[in-house]
Parts: sequence; C-alpha cells; structure tokens
Amino acid sequence: MPERFAELKQEIAESYPNFEERVTEAWRRLLPALAASTEQIAKEYTHIIPQVNFADLDSLNEETINNIKRRGCVVIRDVVEDAEAAAWKAALQEYVTANPDVPGWFPDGDKQFFMLYWTGPQVKARAHPNVLAATAWLNKFYHLKNQDRLEGVDLSTPLTYADRFRIRHPGVEWQRHPPHVDGGSIERWEDRTFRQCFADILRGDWENHDPYDLEGRLNARSSLYGRPNQASIFRTFQGWLALSETAPTEGTLKVFPDVLLSNAYTILRPFFRPKAGAVSGNPLDAENWEYDISSPEFPGIYPIDGGFTGPRPNPVLHPHLRLDETMVSVPKVYPGDMVFWHCDLIHSVEQEHTGNQDSAVMYIPAVPCTPQNSAYVERQKESFLQGIPPPDFPREKGEAGFKGHGCPEDITTPIGKKAMGLPIEVA
Ligand SMILES: [Fe+2]
Repeated sequence: MPERFAELKQEIAESYPNFEERVTEAWRRLLPALAASTEQIAKEYTHIIPQVNFADLDSLNEETINNIKRRGCVVIRDVVEDAEAAAWKAALQEYVTANPDVPGWFPDGDKQFFMLYWTGPQVKARAHPNVLAATAWLNKFYHLKNQDRLEGVDLSTPLTYADRFRIRHPGVEWQRHPPHVDGGSIERWEDRTFRQCFADILRGDWENHDPYDLEGRLNARSSLYGRPNQASIFRTFQGWLALSETAPTEGTLKVFPDVLLSNAYTILRPFFRPKAGAVSGNPLDAENWEYDISSPEFPGIYPIDGGFTGPRPNPVLHPHLRLDETMVSVPKVYPGDMVFWHCDLIHSVEQEHTGNQDSAVMYIPAVPCTPQNSAYVERQKESFLQGIPPPDFPREKGEAGFKGHGCPEDITTPIGKKAMGLPIEVA
C-alpha cells in the first residue's frame, strides 16, 4: 500500500479521543467474543442461517428479526413461483444459445457467468412485485439513529439495480470469488462519511456498532477511485434469486454469518499486529497482539486498476475469523427462493460444484430510495433504453442487437416501473 495510508491511520487515531487506549481495550474484548461466535458458527454451520417464508415476512417475531440482523443474512423461501423462476432460467439459456457472442466468463471455454443486464427474464424478475416487496422489507431493517427523516429517503420504495446472472455447470471449479466484502474497499477508512458508519468501533465501543444505521451510508463514497465493478450505489443487502435447486457443495454462496463481529474485527485489524518474537500460549490471544499504526498496510486491501479492492479477509491475515471453518454455505434453495446478505457481510462462492445440474441465479440486491440511489437509477434507465451496460459496469458490447433483450413493455406493474425510474401512466 502507498505510504500515505500510514498517514491515514494517524489521522484516524487523532480524530477519536484516547484512540490507542480505547481500541486496545476494545480489541481485548473483541477477540474472546469472536472465539465464542466462531465456535458456534463452525458447530451449527449451514443451520445457523435464518430461513423464512415470503408469505410470513410481515408476521415474524422480534427474535427472528434480531437473529437475521445479527447474522446479516437470510434465505427467503418462495418469493416467486417455482414454475415462473424455472421458466426464466430456460429463457436465459435460450437467450445465450441464440446469441453465442454474448459477453461472459468461461471456465473450460464454456460461458457460465454472463455480463448481461437487460435480458427479458432479468427485466421481468426485477420488476416482480414479490421481489420488490422482499427487498423493501429488507430495506426497512435500516433506520436513522439520530433523526426522524431525511429528505429524499424512502425505505418503503424499492429501487432496481441491474446486475448479471450465472448459470454454473456441475463439475467445473470456480476460483474467482474468495471471501470478500463488496461496496467499498479502502473507502471504509478513507472516506470520512463512510468511516462514520464504523464510528462506534473506532471509538472503542464496538458493542454499540449498529450495521443498520442509515446515516453514514447515505452519502458514503464507496467508489473513490471509479473502478469498474465497484457499486457506486447503496445496497442494504446484496442478493440473488435462485432459478434452480442448489444445495451446499453445488457452487452456492458462503457467508461469515456475524456482521457485528466481522465489522468490528475488519475495521480494527489494520491498527494491530502480531507481536514479534516468542509467543506464549495461543498466538490468537490478545496478549500476543499489539497496537501499531506505523505501517501503511490495511490487511485484506489490495491496490488494483488505479484503486483498491477488498476487504478480502483470509486465514493468514485474519486468523481470528477462523474462515476455514466459518465460511458457511447457505442452505439448499429451490427455484424462486431468494438469498440476501448485508452489504458488509463477508461472502464467497464455493469453488466446487459437485451436483448434477446447473446452479443458476440472478443477482438482485435490495436498494432503497435515497437521493444518490435515485440519481443512479436515472442514469441506469438511460442505459436500459439504449441497451448498454449500466453505469457501474464495464463497457462491454451492448445488448440492443441481441435477440430477446428486455424492453420497457416487459415491466407492467406501477411498483416495477417506479423502481426503474420509468413513468407510470395514469389510466
Ligand atoms: Fe461479492
């Protein structure tokens, strides 16, 4: 990392009272909490991930809601009818067969991850009222801690974020998605507004960190360096819609299901290092670590394309997360189920796919109506109308010339049109 990032650490240390003393105390409390949580995650594994039915979303008890908040992830069953979701998969398959030069990523010369945003099934799925209702329900997990309302913010109005899809074949290894966090890299520390989201952690009070406080998120600049593939909008949860059955070991998503502790640890980790020399007892114990802000390194953050990528926690740099045992596969899903994970949650994709059928998902996140998000949706709408990739994505060949791409007429409901920023005609 460039030397100036040592100055950034210094700047952060100076902006919180008694920083060294407080974060050192916080670190000492955090490590045993992580030891207990990782133990539980490793033991319960897939079963620790909350699962609810779409039909029950409005009648869940507080304990279930609080569990979803802490885990930072949830499987929502039956958002879309199985038959409809399966038909979308068949249509996507047809689309990529009919248009063999669609941009896509291809292990073994066989495209499976598609840089396509505007196929008919994607346009329809994103506008499906249940999909939008599920995302609005998740948006409402967030709140304003210190204010009643903010201009231009409406958590009950969901917006659409056009992303891609995958149809992953059995037996093919994927190495592309090791454990990582999206939606902002060094920006989490470097951008002052983004840093505000983690102020309680940096004050040495991680127990009070609220990953669902909206305030800092709204104007956080998650993409200071303008790298492609770096979301510039605020997604409350990332997510996907299952188009096929996919069980653990069949190329599904893995998560570290404790967003409170992974945030606390990831944010504090750059300010500590293992002590040099002889170690007594368990090397993970707090007494074998020390406060240090002299190095410009932010473990898990890497320079790339003129900007930075990560956080990409790994077992060597982030040993207390015990990632080898705690990256948990999500439970088996069926067509029409959705999986969502908090925007700060560490996630990865299974390398192996040992099943015997395709594992297919469309990426559909939860996006609330905020001034920044609404402005993005305006620009996104223009790319939709022109059939070119949305603003956050690489300038691949557009889709307008492909057979079967989606059009505004595919979006028939008012809620779907509003989410895309399209005019709603009055009958
Ligand atoms: Fe990701």
